[in-house]
Amino acid sequence: MSRGNINSILKEDRLFSPPTPFSEQSRIKSRADLNALTTDAKENNEVFWAKLAREKLDWQTPFTTILNTEHAPHFKWFEEGTLNISFNCIDRHLKNKADKTAIIFEGEKGDMRHISYQALHDDVCRLANGLKSLGIIAGDRIVIYMPMTPEAVIAMQACARIGAIHSVVFGGFSATSLRDRIEDAGATLLITADGGFRGGKIVELKAAADQALAAGCPSIKQTIVLKRTAHDIHWNTDKDIWWHDITANQSTECEPTWVSSEHPLFLLYTSGSTGKPKGIQHSSAGYLLNALTTVEWVFDIKDDDIFWCTADVGWITGHTYVAYGPLATGSTIVIYEGAPTVPDGGRFWSLCERHGVTIFYTAPTAIRALMKFGDDIPLSYNLEKLRLLGTVGEPINPEAWMWYHRIIGKEQCPIVDTWWQTETGAHMIAPVPGAIPTKPGSCTLALPGIEAAIVDEKGNEILEADVGGYLVIKKPWPSMLRTIWGDDQRYIDTYWAKFEGRYYLSGDSARRDKAGYFWIMGRIDDVLNVSGHRLGTMEVESALVAHERVAEAAVVGKPDEIKGEGIFAFVVLLGDRPEGGVNEALTQELRQWVSEQIGPIAKPDQIRYTDNLPKTRSGKIMRRLLRSIAKGEAITQDTSTLEDEDILKQLSGQA
Ligand code: WTA
Repeated sequence: MSRGNINSILKEDRLFSPPTPFSEQSRIKSRADLNALTTDAKENNEVFWAKLAREKLDWQTPFTTILNTEHAPHFKWFEEGTLNISFNCIDRHLKNKADKTAIIFEGEKGDMRHISYQALHDDVCRLANGLKSLGIIAGDRIVIYMPMTPEAVIAMQACARIGAIHSVVFGGFSATSLRDRIEDAGATLLITADGGFRGGKIVELKAAADQALAAGCPSIKQTIVLKRTAHDIHWNTDKDIWWHDITANQSTECEPTWVSSEHPLFLLYTSGSTGKPKGIQHSSAGYLLNALTTVEWVFDIKDDDIFWCTADVGWITGHTYVAYGPLATGSTIVIYEGAPTVPDGGRFWSLCERHGVTIFYTAPTAIRALMKFGDDIPLSYNLEKLRLLGTVGEPINPEAWMWYHRIIGKEQCPIVDTWWQTETGAHMIAPVPGAIPTKPGSCTLALPGIEAAIVDEKGNEILEADVGGYLVIKKPWPSMLRTIWGDDQRYIDTYWAKFEGRYYLSGDSARRDKAGYFWIMGRIDDVLNVSGHRLGTMEVESALVAHERVAEAAVVGKPDEIKGEGIFAFVVLLGDRPEGGVNEALTQELRQWVSEQIGPIAKPDQIRYTDNLPKTRSGKIMRRLLRSIAKGEAITQDTSTLEDEDILKQLSGQA
């Protein structure tokens, strides 16, 4: 998030009430209704969640304990209960909705499929039986590295059906990132595809998977390969099996494996403030409960809605609001494989028109990118069916919010700006659209049952309006992460140590306005938010220093009009600094190198060569100074500790 955006947000005071027709038809119709729910949730927090858990989920064995805090901050919810997540997302709808469309799919090239709940059930069971035939059992880890096709969801659901723990790796990540995640999870099976279609090209998933497996991953016994592109790929006869072969003769029935509430449903790796991504571990029951209730509260989903969340299943948003939440409510979702700009900047709007999308959920970076194409493109599509719009991933600047509101929503659709994280599993702070007036740039209020607060350095709650501080959550909630895979200590250190276990530390800073609305200001740790995706500065730095010519690197974020934040790298080379600080060929090589190490989203936008990095006396890199320099701001920091004033000139690109 850029400072520029924060400044414009600070001045923002427009208020948009829910349109009357929307409120009248919504589940939670008024502020009074919402307040009643929130008060009940506050006063009887555990009972509130227990009641929802009994009402909303189908249990094989009922739970007796609601919340076990004995090993806090390792909380356990609904402990003795057993259930199956795939049963809750699919089977329980078969009685009344077997023929209802679960998934509407459109490939980048325009191929389309409608998959009913019955067909989804059958496909999930066939694959689940296939997994069993390979010896996969509950608790095994399966890495999914796939294009955004229905099979990605089928693979996730098939894992859930047999209690295997999936770890989806975004298809845009490199072979190295894939290998690191496979090895950390100790996965025994990889599910991938020959490729996917994106941006008019084939994404070479299988080639990257081959490279990852050639470089390590001894735990992987087999690779299931979906035929998507049908172009030539390398085939390892000892490990590779086609998806269509492993599922061919399987039964369309597969008894769900009943697992305990706390059984890990999935791991999802995300960037932290060190070089090593964290495997965020989620539970089964608690996770699905918040996924489902937020789909009802925040998206106000109804039986005839067509819900499209544009996120890839490689991110948490694609888990909670594509693969699990909406299916648990028996809704129809849209999945689109490709880029928003193929064949032109109208692709999202043409999809909305063609499939009659009623609820549309995307990221501010996409809105800003599509806004650039002008108003005529969206205005040329019929977007009348849209009734609710959402955003996620980063603060939305008021200008983009207003464009979304006027041009896409025709001033008739509430906008839900949803704040949450990989770690929280589901929306935490977001408007309940029939009840809460919205303000451009604010995610408004915490949802019922979620107690969010802003605290100062000592952990005292800041009640004063417009004073920024640490955004924390005061009570455990069902879909919270359970730990970091294989690293309980890092879980405690990262999220609980700062305030001695009193609060969950989100890592974001925020303020509340006079009305109590939350305004997210950005990360407090060394995490970047590039196009709504989290990247650790250390991750990019480790990639840079892994290059043979780099001695040291410091990476900071720089405001970017479209991406929110771009990557600016300061690099010290082994040997001499290039003449005048310029070596275009090396710069391109380093950008490409980082892209290969992590993935294209991590490519630095700018690289500046310097003889030294500015450090404090205790040897810490002066990141604030580097951030100011990257932004081209006047330097206000004390630079007296710099050994050499010339360095400042080099850092500023003036020498
Ligand atoms: C940021 C994505 C402002 C925030 C669901 C958070 C937001 C990080 C918003 C989590 C929002 C997410 N307004 N900032 N509505 N939503 N963020 O784990 O910094 O990929 O900590 O989860 O994105 O990113 P993650």
